Amino acid sequence: LSDFLTDSFGRFHDYLRISLTERCNLRCTYCMPEDGVPLTERSHLLTTDEVIRLAGLFSAAGVTKVRLTGGEPLVRADLADIIAGLKTVAGIRSVAITTNGVVLARRLAALQAAGLDALNISLDTLVPAKFELISRRRGFHRVWQGIQTALAAGYDPVKLNCVVMRGVNDEELEDFATLAETYRLDVRFIEYMPFDGNRWNDRKMVPYGEMVERLRRRWPDLERIADRPNDTSKAYRAPGWVGQVGFITSMSEHFCGTCNRLRLTADGNLKVCLFGNSEVSLRDALRQGSSDEELMTIVGAAVGRKKKQHAGMLDLAAMKNRPMILIGG
Ligand code: GTP
Ligand code: 5AD
Ligand code: SF4
Repeated sequence: LSDFLTDSFGRFHDYLRISLTERCNLRCTYCMPEDGVPLTERSHLLTTDEVIRLAGLFSAAGVTKVRLTGGEPLVRADLADIIAGLKTVAGIRSVAITTNGVVLARRLAALQAAGLDALNISLDTLVPAKFELISRRRGFHRVWQGIQTALAAGYDPVKLNCVVMRGVNDEELEDFATLAETYRLDVRFIEYMPFDGNRWNDRKMVPYGEMVERLRRRWPDLERIADRPNDTSKAYRAPGWVGQVGFITSMSEHFCGTCNRLRLTADGNLKVCLFGNSEVSLRDALRQGSSDEELMTIVGAAVGRKKKQHAGMLDLAAMKNRPMILIGG
């Protein structure tokens, strides 16, 4: 192992999130502005071969887990090929996706055959009409089918990501938690985070403490259970549940101290923090003919500049960042 992936606070980064596209078949309000975002010219996006080459370099330096994001990764017709390609990279032990689930039901078999190890599905409401309000598109029933397909295919657990927004879907906390009673789901309630163009404000953000308190009213025995190392979520379960719930507390109780994540944007920038706006182009270095060593030196320097933690809720809301759709979560 090399030192390229260890930052100045001793955090080793073995988890790479790769955004495969800037496009999405939904238009979620918390992720992108109504009018969409300016898309990068196709020739400036990483090609599949470039993605695999970079993944190989990162894995040689110690990355063991890759998550494919977007936009919506299933918009890529060649997603199964990319997964299969990543599975041939020595050192990568887990290839996962984060998807909105809309077209998952009919694509999952091919992804699973290609070697997909895990999947996280976004779902913010159980009310079909509200789905359309949040995502500006229809699709609730298709996502639900996608979730059932993933469970039937044996993914265990299937993680559900629910961004909680006051006055929008916070009344559904209990209904979402009820899913964990019956299904092998890890239902993760995510504190609403600010990104460019997503109209965040702190009143809409429902803090972790409040969410737990509300669930405890219905499930007084809800107990904290152990998280895995580097988990983004704090896990809970009530006696008798088949699944569990979790809380991703980026705003009220950040988990930067155990951060092990790096990001590659679809246009080929390395982003060392979700909320960091200093980025470096690996695409340009790659296309200028840099050697593996030169590329990893660039990566190492960026990792070395990574801050100890994000700037804090209100500073984040004021700072310039990419819109979430161009980061991938
Ligand atoms: P696992 O790999 O299954 O642990 O999933 P994950 O939580 O790392 O990834 P996922 O794509 O499912 O993201 C769920 C939520 O966590 C999204 O809102 C992400 O923006 C957020 N998230 C993921 N990684 C980070 C991170 O490094 N920092 C912060 N603050 N939030 C993150
Ligand atoms: N705050 C919190 N989570 C978000 N996601 C997208 N935008 C936001 C936001 N503003 C989540 C999506 C998806 C994951 C990749 O990031 O719901 O599950
Ligand atoms: Fe890591 Fe940045 Fe997320 Fe903190 S905010 S956990 S440093 S990516």
